[in-house]
Amino acid sequence: MERVNKILNNRQYLSYMSEIEQNEKDRIFCRHNISHSLDVARIAALMAADEGIHIDRELIYAAALLHDIGRAKTADNHREKSWELAEDILISCGFSDEERTEIKYAIIYHGDENSSDESSFRGIFCKADKLSRNCFMCRAKKECYWNADKKNLYIRV
Ligand SMILES: [Fe+2]
Ligand SMILES: [Fe+2]
Repeated sequence: MERVNKILNNRQYLSYMSEIEQNEKDRIFCRHNISHSLDVARIAALMAADEGIHIDRELIYAAALLHDIGRAKTADNHREKSWELAEDILISCGFSDEERTEIKYAIIYHGDENSSDESSFRGIFCKADKLSRNCFMCRAKKECYWNADKKNLYIRV
């Protein structure tokens, strides 16, 4: 996990994460902090193991750490922005062209409902992002825009 730990110490990454923290300080809905990223990584890793799909653990964690960084700059198109901002960080942390492509596909598709049915890295990643949210204990449950069938009302994984 050496390269993943490099991301954690990357100056750009840390500055995006503190911008997000600042932007979300009064947010009543789910936040996009390090706990969310690690929940996504761990759930995706469990799901990959359950589904018997081999995905390098470092790629899962790298995608999880970076998938919402675009929120530092925009709330509207954050997936595209995350895709864009991830590139320099991934290069400086030693990810190859091929690895960056895989990670960035997981990032760009993480909110795409159609991807979540796929038995692939990006499909699992998309599901893990949604499953990471603890709707069953959320104080903003009533105000949340998620449909009832999308909310996690019990623990699934
Ligand atoms: Fe997101
Ligand atoms: Fe997310």
